[in-house]
Amino acid sequence: MTPLLNSKRSCSQERKLKMSIRCVNRIAILFFGLTCVSGLAHEGPDPKACWLFDGAFVDGKSLKSQAGPNLEVLGSVPTEKVGKLNCMRLDGNESFFVAQDAWDKIRNLLPSSSITVSSWVSLDSTLENGGIVSAFQDNGDAETGWVLGYNQNVFSFALSTRGADDGDGKMTYLTGKTAIEPGKWCHVCAVYDGTTMQLWVNGQLDGESTEQSGNILYPKDARLAVGAYLDSNESFPLEGRLGQVVIYDLAAKPAWIAHDFEHQKHWVSLPAKLDSSKEFEFLIKPYLQFATKDSIKVMCELNRPAKVSVKYGETSKFTDTVVAVSPDRLLHTASLENLKPETGYYYQVIVEEEGREDNIRGELGSFQTASLPRTPFAFAVMGDTQGNPAVNGKLSQYAWALRPNFLIIPGDLVDDGPVKNQWVNEFFASMNPLMRRVPFYPVLGNHERNADFYYRYMDLPAPEYYYSFQYGNAMFFMLDSNKKVDEESEQYQWLEKQLQALEDREKAGTSDVTWKFVSYHHPSYSSDEDDYGNLWKGKSTWGDMRIRPLTKLFDRYAMDVVWNGHIHSYERTWPIINGNVSEDSGTIYMITGGGGGGLEQAGPIRPPFQNNVRRGHHFVFVAVNGSTLELKSFDLEGKLFDTVTLKKASRVVESTSLP
Ligand SMILES: [Fe+2]
Ligand SMILES: [Fe+2]
Repeated sequence: MTPLLNSKRSCSQERKLKMSIRCVNRIAILFFGLTCVSGLAHEGPDPKACWLFDGAFVDGKSLKSQAGPNLEVLGSVPTEKVGKLNCMRLDGNESFFVAQDAWDKIRNLLPSSSITVSSWVSLDSTLENGGIVSAFQDNGDAETGWVLGYNQNVFSFALSTRGADDGDGKMTYLTGKTAIEPGKWCHVCAVYDGTTMQLWVNGQLDGESTEQSGNILYPKDARLAVGAYLDSNESFPLEGRLGQVVIYDLAAKPAWIAHDFEHQKHWVSLPAKLDSSKEFEFLIKPYLQFATKDSIKVMCELNRPAKVSVKYGETSKFTDTVVAVSPDRLLHTASLENLKPETGYYYQVIVEEEGREDNIRGELGSFQTASLPRTPFAFAVMGDTQGNPAVNGKLSQYAWALRPNFLIIPGDLVDDGPVKNQWVNEFFASMNPLMRRVPFYPVLGNHERNADFYYRYMDLPAPEYYYSFQYGNAMFFMLDSNKKVDEESEQYQWLEKQLQALEDREKAGTSDVTWKFVSYHHPSYSSDEDDYGNLWKGKSTWGDMRIRPLTKLFDRYAMDVVWNGHIHSYERTWPIINGNVSEDSGTIYMITGGGGGGLEQAGPIRPPFQNNVRRGHHFVFVAVNGSTLELKSFDLEGKLFDTVTLKKASRVVESTSLP
């Protein structure tokens, strides 16, 4: 093994190269030891971290390292044989590894000036952002750390450094060119020497960049993850197998990488092996998004790359077919267009797996396009479904029994937005009986943490965190109350423009909108005992004062009803205008956060705005017929506990609270 050297170089370069050669020789010996046996050879420098993925090294929920930190085992990671060695299988959903030590300790251990991350990996499926090993944060302008991973069907190496020209908190996402074959082993290696990033696949240089220079810029807080792309608001676990991962604080030379690959290259020629226990199936069964008078979207996610089409028609004898589009051949969106308004349709999703003759079919679903302004319609409202599929599943079945046209979700769909499992196995799984038949219109709660999964699974008008839609004679304005909503904010100004345009149309006699509704997560008015001032220790502000500026717009433009969540209980105000309760005009504010999250309760002091308050899981059903609106609230037993009737012409408000 002879490193390739340039013939012309300075004395200092010569010294560095000699050191490098020594290091490379020592690393080669070390790696040779690693790949031959499960223990380490100690002739060379110790790696900063080394893990062999074999059940023999698992003790309870801990994977013992060969060097460096032990890893916490998340989910189930069965061991599989690869010749005489072993590897571990990750399910792409729950299972991966995180360093057990706190970030401060991990940060001190990770290389600063140069790094080599070497891995043997076999991917069953790929993602837009996938991780083999990650220690980073990628949040808006703050991009720090590094990730060895994959992007769609090629490997990738992302890095942020402190270099003079590029210490701007931006990562370079270097992508390779070798196509990833599902189920096939690859030797994937990332190298950075202070000036050049390299990505090596199966002993060959696959990509190179000189965009970054200087020491690695690490985040203030992060987790070292193996088998996942993991930062504070994203978690993309790997689906496939891990053989080994080693991290060095040296930049490996080409000859060493070639040698390291050569030693175990027989793995590359092994036949592809996918998870035999996994059937080809829907990860997320077909569900509906964004119905208009003439269109709707059908979405689904699969556990294997596939082609998806949707057959549909006004009866189950389908008359039309549309092919879905997909960013990654896993998540699919079919846009059904040129439909008739307020018309019922039946549909079925057809999935063809690549390389297979047979296909799978989704259950027969139905939907209807949006109603015309004169036609009565109805919808359900259910917030804070988070982390409780048993409850939200039951409530959504009650809701479906009432045959709503659609569902509004005022945020906190899941308990932890970056955790894919919660979307796949909790939210979408339990809500599917409703969601394959009616579209849902969500807003972001604090628990979504603005995670990419929200934007991945929703297909809403840009920018998706706020949007509006018309259904029948009602306009709905959907806002993100995690972001700014003060008078200077983008959302406030957008809403003001929308409401003003609506008023202009009303004055001109060209509006077909009778009702105006808004939904966002944090409640403007709430009597909760501890979220807005602890009532036992001090006074409540009676709601989220950061959100309160929005109410000026509601007063000025006569918003009819506001639906909030966040507080996991039920509350309905009297009509409120200019901060005062009114008998015959104003906006009704409702908290409908009883979709599943752990219950909260009202404080002991009744605020004057309060009409009805109740602790318990629930959903709300709203029926609109011209200038009449009926609102009914149901508990977890399906029992009616609150009703409101609004008659628009005279603004007469009738309400009944039942025991
Ligand atoms: Fe919540
Ligand atoms: Fe919340």
